[in-house]
Amino acid sequence: MITLFSPAKINLFLRIHAKRADGYHDLSSLFQTITLGDMLTVSVSDREVLRCDDPSIPTDAHNLILKATRLFREKTGSSLLYEIDLVKRIPTKAGLGGGSSNAATMLWACRALTKMAIPTQTLMKWGSEIGSDVPFFFSEGTAFCTGRGERVLCLPPLEPAKVWIVSPQEGLPTAEVYRRLQSLAGDRKTFNKEDLNAFLTGNLACFNDLEEPAFDINPKLGQLKKELQNSGFNQVLLSGSGSSFFCLGDGKAKSALDCAVVLAHFLNRTASQWYAPA
Ligand code: C5P
Repeated sequence: MITLFSPAKINLFLRIHAKRADGYHDLSSLFQTITLGDMLTVSVSDREVLRCDDPSIPTDAHNLILKATRLFREKTGSSLLYEIDLVKRIPTKAGLGGGSSNAATMLWACRALTKMAIPTQTLMKWGSEIGSDVPFFFSEGTAFCTGRGERVLCLPPLEPAKVWIVSPQEGLPTAEVYRRLQSLAGDRKTFNKEDLNAFLTGNLACFNDLEEPAFDINPKLGQLKKELQNSGFNQVLLSGSGSSFFCLGDGKAKSALDCAVVLAHFLNRTASQWYAPA
């Protein structure tokens, strides 16, 4: 049996480029894992079953955890089945990468339980078949991601920081936010290595090109951002396609507006070990 932490991610910046022929968008983003996360307990079994403490989470073949076990069997020829208990703490439809993190964590668990000598780079490649954000979780927690998100340039850890995660009850479906971005048809900006260096040296603020379409879908989110900005935080930004915000600095995130508020910190792992909760 193995119990693994499955961290959430935030996007410290997110630039969206052109829509591609395959329907995805090219992007440039700095991803960071945080101490908010789920817990997966996995054991080898004679049947495959996924249980979750949150009844709103599907536990059938649509769940990315079961897509990961199936993919692992397909890729390796392993026939092992797993009993999996998921303790869900990452809000869903929140832009925090919960499902993708769970899938990456499950691939890591499969490798551990089968004791197969599979390079982490290979798990990263397989992960991209499950979702665009899955490969990132095989970095050590800080990475510059490009392509549709699956091209991962691992970076050293950033300065430690606390981060407030503010999650409205109503989530946002990722595909719809990207569709709305297309219909808004603003100018698409570029992003290059100099911009990345500017960000890493503190000369470029956080930004997210998906805020405009997300606020267009749900104007209450734009209002929430203003209220959080007025609460004293240095930076308030939608994470990924939303609907969660992350707030950096020393503000007061009140549990108002029907939001769940969690204090977390940046989290990194070492090369040989999976993420551990703080
Ligand atoms: O890869 P994933 O399944 O997480 O993506 C969900 C949806 O988000 C895609 O079907 C696509 O509509 C949109 N998407 C996109 N460009 C990306 C990532 C996601 O258009 N780089």
